[in-house]
Amino acid sequence: MSRPAKSIHGQWSSRWAFILAATGAAVGLGNIWKFPYITGENGGGAFVLVYLLCIAAIGIPVMMAEILIGRRGRQNPVNSLHSLAAEEGKNSFWKYLGWSGVLSGFLILSYYSVIAGQAMAYVFRTFSGVFEGVTADGAKSIYSALINDPERLLAWHTVFMVFTMVVVARGVKGGLEKSVRFLMPALFAILLMLVGYAASTGEYFAQGLEFLFKPDFSKLSGEGVLTAMGHAFFTLSLGMGAIMVYGSYLPQKTSIMKVSIAISIADTLVALLAGMAIFPLVFANELATGAGPGLIFETLPIAFGHMVGGTFFGGMFFLLLVFAAWSSAISLIEPAIAWLVENKDVSRRRACVIAGFATWALGLLTVLSFNVGKSWTLFGQTMFGLLDYLTANIMLPLGGLLIAIFAGWIMKQQSTEDELAIEQPRLYIIWRALIRYVTPAAIVIVFIKIIGLF
Ligand code: TRP
Repeated sequence: MSRPAKSIHGQWSSRWAFILAATGAAVGLGNIWKFPYITGENGGGAFVLVYLLCIAAIGIPVMMAEILIGRRGRQNPVNSLHSLAAEEGKNSFWKYLGWSGVLSGFLILSYYSVIAGQAMAYVFRTFSGVFEGVTADGAKSIYSALINDPERLLAWHTVFMVFTMVVVARGVKGGLEKSVRFLMPALFAILLMLVGYAASTGEYFAQGLEFLFKPDFSKLSGEGVLTAMGHAFFTLSLGMGAIMVYGSYLPQKTSIMKVSIAISIADTLVALLAGMAIFPLVFANELATGAGPGLIFETLPIAFGHMVGGTFFGGMFFLLLVFAAWSSAISLIEPAIAWLVENKDVSRRRACVIAGFATWALGLLTVLSFNVGKSWTLFGQTMFGLLDYLTANIMLPLGGLLIAIFAGWIMKQQSTEDELAIEQPRLYIIWRALIRYVTPAAIVIVFIKIIGLF
């Protein structure tokens, strides 16, 4: 049964604080590590176009829905959905949607932390100067030395998890706001520098841009479309209640539409810049576009090894990437913590120990997927591949579908209209059409197409 909310950490101090925290959640490994490698694996331009369409037609409307549900419900996703459904006289089965979000966040963080650990390892390597003058082969073998050592991956995964859980245990607010305010712009600046370096490769820069922005639909499979859609959810942190939790601390007056659009634009820009920095290097060094999850670790060190001040800027880049991953990691585990604290009467500290330990333990599967467990496959995927597929391609879009149905069909028009409080009636009508028809239809069509492929 739902109970009155125990306030975990009050409201954001301002609209800006919410924007910063939500941007911190959105911008992370998804933009800089995942977007480039899945774009490479799925043939470039056409994939990018579908991804951008998904951000606009699915991502932004669902983000608005999550924020409005969170702000109206004012509790963790499980309770918010439960009480809003009750308010509309609907079935309490909706709380299971909150549940599945808690589960997705936990599954995602288990592998997210292992990748963030790799980025941490790269902070030290880059600052130590090992990449000075490095060749493409050199960069590749340095990466494979890291991932082929389970102990080192495990150690970094452990450091990242401890780091994350300590911060979560202390409550989200203070430190997070500050770090996002300063570190995000710094990350953005280094990305711009990297794009500048990529631009100096001349013809390869043009080739990289063409790969990213010139759609060739013959290279895009049905699976690729699903991956693009799943990634739109992943990169905006949607479909599992993370943004709902943040929304529950949003001041009443803030325009949900404006903040959703601002966050989505910032997030997309970071991903596109990362792609523009990486693909020219891929072509200039005759690397494979489909190199997989190691792509950034095998390409960017080449840039850092050859540009002026590369050791410093490279080390800073990976450090900022770790911070970006960390502000995302917090949002992945926050729904689970909020639920344990509010519903299970567990202290915040204890909730962090329980959830943190469970996530860490599951992360071992991903650690091993890169080395001794490389051959443990199911449906042709490694353990890491399966976790990623299950969460990003299935659970998040499914969660997004249910959130869209909830906001579009379960909640009364009056409720969503009041909560969004959009000044121009036409924009509200567009949102309502998107969330009721376009978003659910798009998700269902992509799913049906994939099932048809099996
Ligand atoms: N969006 C983050 C990234 O791109 C990852 C992330 C944080 C996330 N919170 C989430 C993904 C919630 C899905 C759901 O790195």
